[in-house]
Amino acid sequence: MRFSESFIQRVRDSSDIVKIVGEYVQLKRRGRNYLGLCPFHNEKTPSFNVSPETGLYHCFGCSAGGNVFTFIMEIENLNFTEAVQYLAEKAGIPVEYEGSDREQQARRQAQRRLSELLELVGKYYSHLLKSAPEASIAREYIRRRGISAAAATSFGLGFAKADWDDLITVFQSRGYSDSELVKAGLVLPRKNGNGYYDRFRERLIFPIKDHQGRIVAFAGRKLTDAAPGPKYLNSPETEIFTKGAHLYGLDLAKAYLRKGEPAIITEGYMDVISLHSAGFQTAVASMGTALTVEQARLLSRFCSQVLIAYDGDAAGTTATWRGLETLAGHGLEVKVIVLPAGQDPDSFIRTEGAEAFRKAMAEALPLTDYKLSKTITGFNLERHDERVKAARAVLPILAELNGAVAREAYLNVTAGMIGISVGALRRELDYYEAKLRNVSQGKRNIFPQTRNNITATGQDCSIVESQTRPLSEVAMLKLLLAKPELLGRQFTTAELKFFTDPVIKQIIEAMLESASTDQLDPAAVVDRLAEAEAKKLLTDLIFSKELAGFVENPHDCMAKVRKHYFQEELKDLTHKLINIRNTGQVAEIKQLTLNYINLYQEARQTFGERGDGRWPS
Ligand code: UTP
Ligand code: MN
Repeated sequence: MRFSESFIQRVRDSSDIVKIVGEYVQLKRRGRNYLGLCPFHNEKTPSFNVSPETGLYHCFGCSAGGNVFTFIMEIENLNFTEAVQYLAEKAGIPVEYEGSDREQQARRQAQRRLSELLELVGKYYSHLLKSAPEASIAREYIRRRGISAAAATSFGLGFAKADWDDLITVFQSRGYSDSELVKAGLVLPRKNGNGYYDRFRERLIFPIKDHQGRIVAFAGRKLTDAAPGPKYLNSPETEIFTKGAHLYGLDLAKAYLRKGEPAIITEGYMDVISLHSAGFQTAVASMGTALTVEQARLLSRFCSQVLIAYDGDAAGTTATWRGLETLAGHGLEVKVIVLPAGQDPDSFIRTEGAEAFRKAMAEALPLTDYKLSKTITGFNLERHDERVKAARAVLPILAELNGAVAREAYLNVTAGMIGISVGALRRELDYYEAKLRNVSQGKRNIFPQTRNNITATGQDCSIVESQTRPLSEVAMLKLLLAKPELLGRQFTTAELKFFTDPVIKQIIEAMLESASTDQLDPAAVVDRLAEAEAKKLLTDLIFSKELAGFVENPHDCMAKVRKHYFQEELKDLTHKLINIRNTGQVAEIKQLTLNYINLYQEARQTFGERGDGRWPS
């Protein structure tokens, strides 16, 4: 699914960057620009600039920079498509996709209609909960479980009637076909093949929303233990709902996560509602299953720390264990809140209160501590042989630790927990790690030694490049920004090959592509840039004071770029020839020599009879 270029431009043009940024940052007018405190790093004196003229922002403190789209992407943790959709909605522009792929467009269309249907159904269910006489049983249930009216509203809770065909009838009359209702997971075909019936009957309804707050599915809880079916009934997978892809409550938690609070991951709908009501608004639920990779990735977009609050029994299962590893694997700092057996966060808060939960949060165990204690409690430490086994079992956990201090601290604690001497445990660990090293050394030798070398030097190069860009190329970029009328006229794509700095080259390429008319729209250039590095450099130059007064003769400027290019290329070829000359690789030596001669001739031609490398005038 892709947006057409004209659509993206319309959205960009209709989004006032000062107004949009102003929703997150207090901006004050300063000359032609607006100034405020940067939302992307901590600062006391404002260095965050917004320019209504160019549609760009730039921070001189942390060098964040871009246009409305990158701003919304960064601050709302959206990807590009989501950011465009978000701003289109805000500007009241109907979303349009590129017309090339008709099938995809039809699918999008169907998804949109499905999405609309789910929103309407959500409204219908919550309307029933509020006012249908039959829903008194659900209203009573909610009261009994201590769900406030405010919480019921913000989570959009609803009620499905006991009838077998209530929803079908209502939505058929609103123009939805049976097959649409089936595809939405709301109705099922009757066993006798004669018509359809409602999936959710006489249940309390929990809409499941994506992180942007759009309903993607429903869950229904039965209102009495005696009622038929499972405790919670969930929508099946549909065009817009994949199990394990969403986190319940994330749409509401997002705003609080942005402030840097850790996420609280629970198992169930009721846990999330209770926690939010008690003031813990970063709670989300994995909805019964072990955390999936997709959920971990989703969460890692919004926070860097998570607290697991599973019910006391679930916390020890292998599924939980795997989920924790998945989170840690996505760079999240994981801690485990240990609740008493048989208690989940909802019941814990109801019986012990919010303060007790806050205390449990403060006492949450870092993942390593949790893993150690869970592992050790599996052994009967009264017995010698079990203590030996316990010591062996903790070695992989200890071996993962980085840093001498952490290692020393954990060695002490663990030895104490098991009831053996620190010295003995340390010897076991040393032995274990030596064995690990042997294994991995053996593996490493399978690969040619050069592999490591290549990556190592590759990294060095890019660091050097990013710090020192060729002055001539920077100057040319500045000049093109100051005089965009050169683009596509004196300065054409033929010049691109002379730029050795990949970031500068990328920017100029994007400028050439978007400068079809006389003017250059810098905000449009930003959308063509893939790398953050390029966006930073571009906005940095645009907001820098010197640019306005930047005058240089374009011909001289470009001549310097070319000269630099030839110097670098010839130098590179010379090095290669020196390295290869005694190796007897005749064909390669020949090829390099040929390249050298060609390049040398090209250089001479470029710098021509005049020898100055200027544009022919
Ligand atoms: P729990 O059985 O722990 O229920 O399931 P709960 O969340 O504490 O619910 P209450 O307090 O009894 O009302 C945890 C989660 O597992 C999923 C749901 O997402 C539930 O919130 N689940 C559970 C189902 O999908 N179906 C079920 O039948 C049971
Ligand atoms: Mn519960």
